[in-house]
Amino acid sequence: MITRFHIENFKSLVNFTLPPDDPDVDSGLPPTGRELGGFTCLIGLNGSGKSTLLQAFDFIAHIATGKVKDWLGRRDWKKGELVSHFGKKTPVIIFTIGLRTTVGTVVEWTARFNTTSLKCTAETITSAGKDILKLEEGRLTVAGAPGVPEQRYEKVPWEYEGAVMSSLKMVDADPGIAEMKTALAHLCSLELLSPQLMRRKARAAQDIGAGGEKLSPFLDQLQSTAKTNLYALLCPFYPQLETWNVRGYRAGWKSLRIKESYPDSGMIETGHINDGFLRVIAILAQAQSPHQFLLFDEIENGINPALVEKLMDFLVGLGQQGKQVVVTTHSPMILNFLDDQVARDSVILLYKTPAGKTLSCRYFDQPETSQKLKALGPGEVFVDTDLTKLVERLSGSASPAVTKEEV
Ligand SMILES: Nc1ncnc2c1ncn2[C@@H]1O[C@H](COP(=O)(O)OP(=O)(O)O)[C@@H](O)[C@H]1O
Ligand SMILES: [Mg+2]
Repeated sequence: MITRFHIENFKSLVNFTLPPDDPDVDSGLPPTGRELGGFTCLIGLNGSGKSTLLQAFDFIAHIATGKVKDWLGRRDWKKGELVSHFGKKTPVIIFTIGLRTTVGTVVEWTARFNTTSLKCTAETITSAGKDILKLEEGRLTVAGAPGVPEQRYEKVPWEYEGAVMSSLKMVDADPGIAEMKTALAHLCSLELLSPQLMRRKARAAQDIGAGGEKLSPFLDQLQSTAKTNLYALLCPFYPQLETWNVRGYRAGWKSLRIKESYPDSGMIETGHINDGFLRVIAILAQAQSPHQFLLFDEIENGINPALVEKLMDFLVGLGQQGKQVVVTTHSPMILNFLDDQVARDSVILLYKTPAGKTLSCRYFDQPETSQKLKALGPGEVFVDTDLTKLVERLSGSASPAVTKEEV
């Protein structure tokens, strides 16, 4: 489980931490111990930084796996565009990511990434507070696996892109390093999910691709029980679905097809499947994917409101099954399907300061919302609260806060 994320100088994330480090509203105590949960819902006005935050997670994952150039290429971005327009404009992005491992230890990776060389120039990985990897002024120290001595180098002896761990031989190193890399390799950002790309024929794939371009081969390689489970998950969304399968073409090309249960209905080729179905099958298929940390931008896009509750149940459920899910939304309906406590813990408001920097806070811990939540559902509170005014107050560009008594 990813517990914490801090990043500096990435686009509008000048000095940003998730989860927010605001005090708990009821006790007034500092938020020590409040870790990122299984489900997180990001809300905020247009341009507040929701997509940027998903991009930041994806960016860190590609640093860990040494694929930053590919990542930039896929997005058609230049490396100079990564740093913030605000602040010192240095080509350095600093970040920390915390992970609770399978045995309960906290592993933290802190790095300075240089956007010119596309490499980390300083890195520390700690496990339970002890350094297990350190890159400092060119020197590298890596703690050994049990029974293996520590490795020390005056200069990193291998070529690497992104993080040194991307090319590190894991068998000889402390297992905490591999846990961090694996967790980040299992991060999957579906923020570019596009029905147009999902309709493409594609060849062999272990995952559906950032835009969903490998949906068909991904579905095809699932085990038969996983395929049956996916069909069962799909039925409540599309009761008219009779079957789905993947058709193979010459040279390994694959394409999804479905059949509906209308009389005389034929196979519907991928080019004619509706957008909502493609998005839903792509999302539901994640239950069968190796990804542990899933990011979905504007989750409600293209999906009929009548199906949103089912989708939310599914995503919150994934969070309870040990995966972690982060979604962004503009829809108050999404919030209505959350329990009050889940809403309090998981709904994070992103907003910008007058200088354009993205900050975050727990939406239902604000004086404008926390009292209302006692009487109204989370979505009703969202509809009843003027987001622009709330953001003006938080960003310091408006009159002082409404007190609890006034609400
Ligand atoms: N390099 C940068 N430095 C500072 N701000 C940036 C940079 N690049 C983009 N932005 C700003 O960050 C905003 C955040 O956009 P985005 O994350 O897409 O918002 P949302 O998804 O919440 O609608 C953009 O609208 C833009 O104003
Ligand atoms: Mg966005």
